[in-house]
Formats: sequence, C-alpha cells, structure tokens
Amino acid sequence: MERSILITGAGSGIGLATATLLKARGFTVYAGARKPEDLKRLEALGLIPLPLDVTRPEDLAQAQEAIPEALFGLVANAGLAPAGPLELVPPEVVEEGLRVNVLGTLRTVQAFLPHLRRGRGRIVLMGSVSGLLALPLMGPYAASKFALEALADALRVELAPFGVKVVLVEPGSVATPIWGRSLRWAEGYLLPPPPGTEGVYGAYLEAARRMAERNAKGGLPPERVAEAVLKALTHPRPRARYLVAHPARAREVRLLRLLPEALRDALILRVLRRLAH
Ligand SMILES: NC(=O)c1ccc[n+]([C@@H]2O[C@H](COP(=O)([O-])OP(=O)(O)OC[C@H]3O[C@@H](n4cnc5c(N)ncnc54)[C@H](OP(=O)(O)O)[C@@H]3O)[C@@H](O)[C@H]2O)c1
Repeated sequence: MERSILITGAGSGIGLATATLLKARGFTVYAGARKPEDLKRLEALGLIPLPLDVTRPEDLAQAQEAIPEALFGLVANAGLAPAGPLELVPPEVVEEGLRVNVLGTLRTVQAFLPHLRRGRGRIVLMGSVSGLLALPLMGPYAASKFALEALADALRVELAPFGVKVVLVEPGSVATPIWGRSLRWAEGYLLPPPPGTEGVYGAYLEAARRMAERNAKGGLPPERVAEAVLKALTHPRPRARYLVAHPARAREVRLLRLLPEALRDALILRVLRRLAH
C-alpha cells in the first residue's frame, strides 16, 4: 500500500532534508512550500509540490483536495524564529511567530486529521529545545515552541482513541537558513534601543549575532533531524518526544532543566556575558 506523507515548510533546511529522506525510503511525499522556485526544485526531486502557506486557510483547503488518499504521516515543520530582547521586540513580531509556529501548525493538524484518521497515521510536530528552555534573546521563539509542547501533550491523549499518534521532535541547533533569516529580521526592529539602554542592548545584539553564526555553522546537519522524524513516523512504539542534539548539548539541556532557577539563571547569564563581549 502507498504510504503518503505531507511535510510543511519543505523548501529548505530540515523540511527539505526530511522530504528527501522519506522519498528515498519509498514514501510518497507531498512537499508544502511557499516560493515558486522551491516548488519547482521539490518537483525536480520527485516530490509532489504543494503551494502551502500554513497561515492561509485557502491554501490548506486546496492542499486537502490535492491529497485524495489517507495519510501515513503529517510532518508539521514550517516555522520561523522571531528573536531579540523582549523589551525591544514589537508585539507584531511575537504575534507572527505564534501565527506561524503555533496556529499554523494547529490549522495544518486540523485540516489533515480526516486523512490521518483514515490512515491511522502519525503527526510529527517540529518542536525545539527552545520549547524546553527559554533562553535570553530567544523569548519570542521560545514562547511559540513552549506552546507547541502544550499542543502536543493535549493532542497526543485526545487522538489516542483514533489510533493517531502524536510525536514531538525537539532539535537543538541545526545548520539551516533559519538563523540568518532570524538575524536579518531582528536587525530591522531592534534598533535604535531606548536612550540609556544602548550599552546593554548593543551587547545583546552582538551576542545574538554570535549565537546565530554559531548555530548556522556548528549546528547539526538537518539530515540528523530527518532521521529522527523517520523514526518518529515508523517506530512501532514511538516516544512522545525525541530530543535531537549533540550529546553534550542534550545533557546540558536536561541538567539545566533540573537545576534550581537561581543557579540556572546565573549559569545562563554567564554564557550570555561571554557571548556579548
Ligand atoms: N535550525 C534549527 O536550529 C532548529 C532547531 C529547532 C527547531 N527548528 C524548527 O525546524 C523547523 C524548520 O526550520 P529550519 O531550521 O529547517 O529553517 P528553514 O530552512 O528556515 O525552514 C523553515 C521553513 O518553513 C517555511 N515557512 C515559514 N513560514 C511559513 C508559513 N507561513 N507557511 C509555510 N511555510 C512556512 C519556510 O518557507 P519560506 O522559505 O517560504 O519562508 C521554510 O521553508 C522550524 O519549525 C524550526 O522552528 C529548527
């Protein structure tokens, strides 16, 4: 039987790597993307391109019609990373992060649940380590990924009676275009800082730049996340969460979450200061 999967945000990064891997493993892959050039590239790779902005109900309705069969899996991957110190981030930017990462994901899940029920399929949500730890300068992004943790927990139990499993994949830093995009976006709204705060926020901007560079260069290859998605889709008894990070980073995240908050904050502040100077 044909095993069909829909992946959103498949035009680049983790989505593209996942779509490519799943196609190589024999799945029929519907690959959602927004840009015409991405859609063309996806088609050339043997994937079925779907014009799909997850915030647009009309795109979702067309995608529903384009996928006639039951779905084996939905990989809700589309996302962006609004960043910056919370005093300076315009609420509209935070809103955009929630609109795409949270509501866009929910809209996609709602649209394709009939297909997933028919196929007793699985939902893989693209969470993040930022859904486990809200680091400074990543507040707007973390707010969206914490919200996704909540959606995943509620959905997992709600959909259990239908045989539809819900798995959250939580990558650490992955080398994809998201960080460059996030930095360019933030540079548009972070300046100028309020009078008297330039020193602190100037240093924060420098820290954000270094963090973005470090993530873009030193992050895991997106293929590693693709492998975790494949496991989430095919393991007979998938875990609720797969944390995908360098082992040392994964240990750090687990440890930080266990520490008393005062100690955790002090450690994080120390790293922030080091990055800023
Ligand atoms: N890279 C990391 O370190 C990392 C870590 C943890 C989690 N993640 C998560 O992994 C997912 C993929 O990110 P990535 O790192 O692969 O970055 P990416 O290369 O920037 O991919 C994000 C994709 O989402 C698409 N997208 C954005 N807004 C959309 C919308 N409204 N509708 C449909 N598609 C939309 C983008 O399409 P356009 O090109 O058209 O904008 C892009 O193809 C995101 O959910 C991200 O939060 C990434």
